[in-house]
Amino acid sequence: MEQRKLLELLEEMSLEEKINQLFQGNGSFYEGGSIATGPASEQGFSEKTIREAGSVLSIVGAENIKKIQKAHMENHPHHIPLVFMADIINGYKTAFPIPLAQGAAFNPKVAKEGAEVAAKEASAAGIQVTFSPMLDLVRDARWGRVMESNGEDTYLNSVYAKALVEGYQGDDPKQPGKIGACVKHFAAYGAPVAGRDYNNVELSERTLRDDYLPAYEAAVKAGALLVMTSFNTLNRMPSSANKWLLRDILRGEMGFEGTVISDWAAIEEIRNHGVAKDRKEAAKLALLAGTDIDMMTTCYSNYLKELIESGELDEALLDEAVLRVLELKNKLGLFENPYKDADEEAEKKVLLCEEHRRKAKEAAKETFVLLENDGILPLKKEEKVAFIGPFTEEKAIIGAWSIFADEKDAVSVKEGVAAIGANAIFAKGCDSLEPGAVMPGMNFIYESSRTQTQAQMMLDEAVEAAQKADKVVLCIGEHMAQTGEAASRADITIPEGQKKLLREIARVNKNIAVVLFNGRPLDIREIKELAKAVLVVWMPGTEGGNAIAEVLYGETAPSGKLPMSFPYAVGQVPVFYNEFKTGRRMNPDQPENRFQSRYMDIPNEPLYSFGYGLSYTEFSYSGVKLSSGNLERNGKITASVTVKNIGSRKGAETVQLYIRDEEGSVVRPVRELRGFEKLWLDPGEEKEVSFTITENMLKFHDINMKYTAEPGRFTVFVGGNSRTLNQAEFCLTF
Ligand code: BGC
Repeated sequence: MEQRKLLELLEEMSLEEKINQLFQGNGSFYEGGSIATGPASEQGFSEKTIREAGSVLSIVGAENIKKIQKAHMENHPHHIPLVFMADIINGYKTAFPIPLAQGAAFNPKVAKEGAEVAAKEASAAGIQVTFSPMLDLVRDARWGRVMESNGEDTYLNSVYAKALVEGYQGDDPKQPGKIGACVKHFAAYGAPVAGRDYNNVELSERTLRDDYLPAYEAAVKAGALLVMTSFNTLNRMPSSANKWLLRDILRGEMGFEGTVISDWAAIEEIRNHGVAKDRKEAAKLALLAGTDIDMMTTCYSNYLKELIESGELDEALLDEAVLRVLELKNKLGLFENPYKDADEEAEKKVLLCEEHRRKAKEAAKETFVLLENDGILPLKKEEKVAFIGPFTEEKAIIGAWSIFADEKDAVSVKEGVAAIGANAIFAKGCDSLEPGAVMPGMNFIYESSRTQTQAQMMLDEAVEAAQKADKVVLCIGEHMAQTGEAASRADITIPEGQKKLLREIARVNKNIAVVLFNGRPLDIREIKELAKAVLVVWMPGTEGGNAIAEVLYGETAPSGKLPMSFPYAVGQVPVFYNEFKTGRRMNPDQPENRFQSRYMDIPNEPLYSFGYGLSYTEFSYSGVKLSSGNLERNGKITASVTVKNIGSRKGAETVQLYIRDEEGSVVRPVRELRGFEKLWLDPGEEKEVSFTITENMLKFHDINMKYTAEPGRFTVFVGGNSRTLNQAEFCLTF
């Protein structure tokens, strides 16, 4: 539709109709194509609001969506279609590895392909917008939602941001098989104080701008259609009421022209934060700040009319927000094609199709991170291996946000190993959580009816299996219900029963390879001590078991690198590689010096740092060669290394470029990732990798909050992880 026509439509709409266009209700308000007044009125929504709503979340299925859309348009005074939105995070029916795992691939193609598959499946099922990507930078493993992020690094997240938006939307979200992307949670939701979900955020403006905003901005620049506000406060202001954040930064500085949606009930929560005295004031603050859509509260639908009629709010503000909702529908082509790609036949064809499963498996294989291996991996098919642990059979490995995927479709480790035809025996050993445990997940409840006696029998059986085997693969970790939204944890170790299993098995068989399932970095000191190999597989998705079996048996080598540091102990968090220089940086050569920035009881360094990960082979690096020791304004230099596979198996290495600004007008990080390249090399093969360094890569917010690079000395590090000392120096001169 032409813009002119959208404006005409806006003009024709009544005040109430416009207000209702800003309302987003949820799937439970509709039943078999008609409005289910019960659930809606229980929550305070009138039938008229639902009938005139602009969008809806969490309804899926082509047939259902088509029915609802048809009825909605027929009943709507201007026949305006709904937009159907949903949380399609790491896949719709075919679950890819969780986003944190995707970050570990250090390969944006993995994310892009995952988003393409998700868009194809979700669009066939009628979904038009996904609440993804989540681009919150994460540095605190206690926060359950780190699983939805690509990790702790600004640059890595920005590269992934672009890939994800391109994957969902393609060149034009109108096209078949594409859906709109919604960047979330704006802003800095990943930094809640103490790692507790929904808690406040305290960040300096400089850190916000240098570290937290760039990934959101990369997604905005890639054309994401929507941005979602975050639950947290920033500068003591809830994001949905933060005019500075939404109008000045998002729209003004980043140039975002799309639609802003609140997170679930976030407008009403402005009142809980104590910034608004009631829902009416919350509505006023949110609209003034630039929040267009009200997800699931009565704030806009019940109070905007009064606010406008009394002159407290200018109707022009409402018109602006409504126009953005209409524009969103137009960008998705819904005025011409309100059902978009919803198609029962296509659903049958694409959901969980072979091609998507294959892609999910390939993606998973790229995300596993080998933290330790004293040579017991890869396994050989002839050796007798006991696969032990709750995750041998577990199918809840698709990621906490895979709310539309079915666990039953997932391949367990047991099934994956069986498919390979290896000499394996299996014993569960224990459940994921303790006997009698009850834990609500995102859309299920974990409940154990196991008695202590039964638990002991399982354990005994596993010990017996371990005694009979050459090697043990121990599949342990945190349960999916312990990860995701509202899953903050103060103790980030594996559950007690699994620790006991590990200890008991280690008593009878020392050849243990741990396969670790996790939605966050865990404290794995004890695992490191008792196991000879540790393979982190995260929540690997629908094809998890097949991917794990293929990597364990060496059909391909693990090639992931950590996107988030694994702390030595929870007491270190937030812990991240690009920390700031301190006045008393720890000097390991002076252990007798008390007055240094350090802990008395644990090291400063995480157990495994960002960027770390092994392969089944080894790589050597040449020194860093710079094309010049001098970088001029608007100029460029290159940093090159030659990387060689010096082992006997094919493997991948992610070559990482870090830069340290030696002096700045404000304190600078010890180093920052500025480039990476993943290479597959055959035994004996070598390749030169070159990174171009430009002035832009050296920019930050200086003492005057100006985004600039300052002349001076810089150190370049190129290597296989964030602690590499392979370095060279150059100067930036103007
Ligand atoms: C989450 C969002 C999500 C929304 C809609 C909220 O609880 O924070 O990430 O998109 O629900 O399901």
